[in-house]
Amino acid sequence: MNFEFLKSKVTEIVSNTNDSLENRLYQICEILEAHVNHYDWVGFYFKNGDKNELKLGPYIGEPTDHVIIPFGKGICGQVAVSNENFVVPDVAAQDNYIACSITVKAEIVVPIFVNGLNIGQIDIDSKTPDPFTTEDERFLEFVCFEVSKLL
Ligand code: SME
Repeated sequence: MNFEFLKSKVTEIVSNTNDSLENRLYQICEILEAHVNHYDWVGFYFKNGDKNELKLGPYIGEPTDHVIIPFGKGICGQVAVSNENFVVPDVAAQDNYIACSITVKAEIVVPIFVNGLNIGQIDIDSKTPDPFTTEDERFLEFVCFEVSKLL
């Protein structure tokens, strides 16, 4: 996949002020899922007001029951408190993991910061075992930085 091409597309989407925030986030999910083979579910979670929980935002992929995730629970909830990327090569090896689909083999979660505060994250599931590299991390950090400009 061509991350440079995707970066320019993401910047283009973010810059489109005619579109709602919701729509732009959805379009980012769409383009990532469509162009990266190992991205099978792509979505955003955001801090739910002043509660210590995450709420599902725009996503593409199978619907999930996990619309609300308490801080500390699952990979997403852990990133909400660690403020660090979490790359999971094999979800079966994780104790603190919330399964959405049995077809998922790996996951990556990268936090979104606004004014230094962790306000949400991008979450990607893969059906491919151990697919994520530092290239994915750098790319997704770029995506999160672009998204942070909208929040
Ligand atoms: N697997 C995540 C839950 C969210 S789904 O992947 C959509 C977790 O453990 O936090």
